[in-house]
Amino acid sequence: MSDRPLAIVTGGAGFIGSHMVDVLVARGFKVRVIDNLVGGREANLAHHAAKDVQFRRADIREFRPGDPFFDDVRYVFHFAGIGDIVPSIERPLEYISTNVQGTAHMLDCARMANGGRGVSKFVYAASSSCYGLAQTPTREDHPIAPQYPYALSKYQGEQAAFHWHKVYRLPVNSIRIFNAYGTRSRTSGAYGAVFGVFLRQKLAAKPYTVVGDGTQRRDFLYVTDVARAFLAAAETDRVGEIWNLGAGNPQSINRLVELLGGPVIRIPKRPGEPDCTWADIGKIRLDLGWAPELTFEDGVGRILANIEYWREAPLWDPASIEKATKTWFEFLTPQRNAPL
Ligand SMILES: NC(=O)c1ccc[n+]([C@@H]2O[C@H](COP(=O)([O-])OP(=O)(O)OC[C@H]3O[C@@H](n4cnc5c(N)ncnc54)[C@H](O)[C@@H]3O)[C@@H](O)[C@H]2O)c1
Repeated sequence: MSDRPLAIVTGGAGFIGSHMVDVLVARGFKVRVIDNLVGGREANLAHHAAKDVQFRRADIREFRPGDPFFDDVRYVFHFAGIGDIVPSIERPLEYISTNVQGTAHMLDCARMANGGRGVSKFVYAASSSCYGLAQTPTREDHPIAPQYPYALSKYQGEQAAFHWHKVYRLPVNSIRIFNAYGTRSRTSGAYGAVFGVFLRQKLAAKPYTVVGDGTQRRDFLYVTDVARAFLAAAETDRVGEIWNLGAGNPQSINRLVELLGGPVIRIPKRPGEPDCTWADIGKIRLDLGWAPELTFEDGVGRILANIEYWREAPLWDPASIEKATKTWFEFLTPQRNAPL
């Protein structure tokens, strides 16, 4: 038996999860990772020794309470899930199954861990998309208004987490992430987050496909700052809390283009996308003493130093984006729901 503390990171082969593993190992934890690799890659963990990180390729929905993988575990960080707006509109049941039902499986395993005593903390990776088209800066008590099934599923996963807290006294905290960015962000599959799209376009010397006039702003937070916040949310004595997580300093897409350098081509604005995301981070600063460490310029610099990672990512152009976002326009345009 080792006297090192143990943590589980679900989705630990993914973008944020793999950085969570790095932060935990650096802090002396042994880490067990659960990931079915639908979005993540084992290569994201390749720099860790087997004595530090144990990997189990499995679907979170396969786990049953009492699974020995949860023995001796102090903290569970729950990142496993599926993202992206368009596929969630096309296949809502998959999103509810993975992000809600899957979360319930992890909650119940965490509750029954350690001979039924449960883990010391379960930290849920929630999404700011629950706020919909929100007032900014956005506080935790802002009304909830999910605009698409991904947002709904992440919010229902959070509600499940607090239900386990209420009914079974499982010590749960939830962090609503705004826009995480950094090395190892997902490169496969659907049209999605701006960084993956632009970095591949930069590698191919193609113009950046900027939505609208590029003045829209996003509260980008570098991924290691995200992972540090999650560790703080586990180590705190507070339970049953929700914190918004961003840099609290939104950046325009035009500013991102300026830092990356290169020509742009404009594509139409999409329904349901906010002009600005901006986390009010007063609560997390106060409660956890957490603050962002990396500036946007430093974060983009780190990404550019690792740009080869995005070489295998899909290369998007206005025509392929139009095709990929067809259902987005079809289902989220407000007139569609007007009375006939
Ligand atoms: N990246 C962001 O800006 C952001 C913002 C808000 C919330 N989040 C949430 O944070 C979490 C991590 O996001 P990410 O950006 O690192 O995404 P990611 O896709 O890189 O990581 C998710 C991981 O979960 C794994 N996974 C998916 N379904 C699974 C299943 N059924 N069983 C086991 N593993 C499964 C994937 O293989 C992947 O490795 C997600 O829950 C996401 O909803 C992310």
